[in-house]
Amino acid sequence: MASIITPWIFFIQILAIASSSEAKVSAVIAFGDSFVDTGNNNYIPTLAKSNFDPYGRDFPGGTPTGRFCNGRLHPDFISEGFGLKPIIPAYLDPKFSISDFATGVSFGSASTGYDNATSDLLKVIPLWKEVEYYKEYQEKLRAHLGDKKANEVISGALYLINIGTNDFILNYFGVPRRRSHFTVQQYQDFLIGIAENFVKQIYSLGARKLSLISLLPLGCFPVERTMNIKKPLDCLEDRNKAALEFNGKLKAAVAKLSKNLPGLKVFFADAYELLFQLITRPSNYGFEVVEKGCCGTGLLETAVLCNPHTPFTCPDAEKYVFWDSIHPSQRTNKIVADELLPLLKQQFL
Ligand SMILES: *[C@@H]1O[C@H](CO)[C@@H](O)[C@H](O)[C@H]1NC(C)=O
Repeated sequence: MASIITPWIFFIQILAIASSSEAKVSAVIAFGDSFVDTGNNNYIPTLAKSNFDPYGRDFPGGTPTGRFCNGRLHPDFISEGFGLKPIIPAYLDPKFSISDFATGVSFGSASTGYDNATSDLLKVIPLWKEVEYYKEYQEKLRAHLGDKKANEVISGALYLINIGTNDFILNYFGVPRRRSHFTVQQYQDFLIGIAENFVKQIYSLGARKLSLISLLPLGCFPVERTMNIKKPLDCLEDRNKAALEFNGKLKAAVAKLSKNLPGLKVFFADAYELLFQLITRPSNYGFEVVEKGCCGTGLLETAVLCNPHTPFTCPDAEKYVFWDSIHPSQRTNKIVADELLPLLKQQFL
């Protein structure tokens, strides 16, 4: 008997050693807007909420969580892909504690932006306040794990930063204030300056593995197509152009930061082209509808306008690139995560 069992035990030991010595990310920590907000806005007074049906109808248990989606967001899938939990809890959610947050947490707030004037529009959490919450989190983590272990979590975590969409679609192109003071190029530069300061700030707090996600083709979001008066339901080219230019500047800023800050790895996660492919060649990916979201007419509804009484909501969101007029469906989020995961693993494991 022993002669048969022993090689197996030996084999299992080898596997155990191989997996324990494998590099890991300790946690997935998200900053930004609705693309990463897993429920923080439920706990602040704002209209930018989604903790009601039909949001979350394809989430485990069919529960609306405050995610702006029918299901999970891309950070949830990325966390799972790194062998961490499949659901990233929201920092303000009292159902979770620091022991949950030790392996992943989101500070994201739907409708926020780099620009304080953007977060002011719907009274959501500004980026600087997300950083304040992150500092508070670090204190709680140190109290919970001790300094040494807490520092390992902080420096070993993967930070997913997804922000900037609302600075353009809600703020710059939505209300006149910034447009009357900045050209779109000047506004991009203003936002890039804030992005650089933000990275420097969380670097000084101990973050080392950062992924800044690009803007998507904003002009092809259903809500933007709805506003296209000249060519009804076509993408708004000026929004796409603004996003592409911003992405080019962000990419350059990321390269500079990686070079100048010792020990910091920042990755520019470009999802623009992938989304553009989904939107222009939907059938290649099994999608049937791109011009409108699943919720309601799909032309305008998001947040409180996408609610249990909204008529015409589609029966199968899997066929839609967008869940509501601004936010990708769960299937799109999964496709984005699947595309980014190998790149993130290559960078950070
Ligand atoms: C945003 O507001 C915070 C808090 O008032 C302030 O510290 C920060 O400098 C502001 N950011 C910009 C870019 O003005």
